[in-house]
Amino acid sequence: MSKVALSPANPANVPAMKALLEAHHLPAVELEDWLEHFVVAERDGRLIGCGGLELYAKDLAGLVRSMAVDGDLHGTGVGSSILEWVEDHARELGVRHLLLFTMEAGPFYERHGYDLVAYDAFPPSARGSFQYRWVEEHGKEWGVVAMAKDV
Ligand SMILES: CC(C)(COP(=O)(O)OP(=O)(O)OC[C@H]1O[C@@H](n2cnc3c(N)ncnc32)[C@H](O)[C@@H]1OP(=O)(O)O)[C@@H](O)C(=O)NCCC(=O)NCCS
Repeated sequence: MSKVALSPANPANVPAMKALLEAHHLPAVELEDWLEHFVVAERDGRLIGCGGLELYAKDLAGLVRSMAVDGDLHGTGVGSSILEWVEDHARELGVRHLLLFTMEAGPFYERHGYDLVAYDAFPPSARGSFQYRWVEEHGKEWGVVAMAKDV
């Protein structure tokens, strides 16, 4: 496989990121607002993955979000590289506690050291996030789990 390059996201990446998220039925809400904390993966000039963080630095917490890899490349390590970039980025910012919601990728995050937590393990400042508000209302019926890791 030709080389996959990771780089910080920039505004020109947004349309391809949104298309990738949409293809995986993931919300792109407020993506532009958090773009400086996102990474993109590209191969042969094509965007094939992304992932990033929302920052709730008052609580030194980061919400991992919008992790997606082109379906043809699932299981080839791209998602792990993206997650490692996101975790390094959090450490560089002094953020030590990462949280996330997922419906189907629990085993992927478990392999990366994330543990299941209760929804209310989310710190107060992160509860204003779009994801938390949605999960609070619909999470149980959709089988959404919350996970966390200290980095
Ligand atoms: C989750 C995702 C980003 C992982 O990226 P990836 O490039 O496939 O991951 P990697 O190749 O680095 O790691 C793959 C490992 O995670 C596991 N894994 C990945 N997604 C999984 C899923 N949905 N369910 C179970 N295991 C999963 C694979 O089985 C594999 O484990 P193995 O090496 O023991 O076989 C990618 O599968 C994806 O885009 N999924 C759809 C969107 C999604 O659910 N995003 C998460 C939103 S929170």
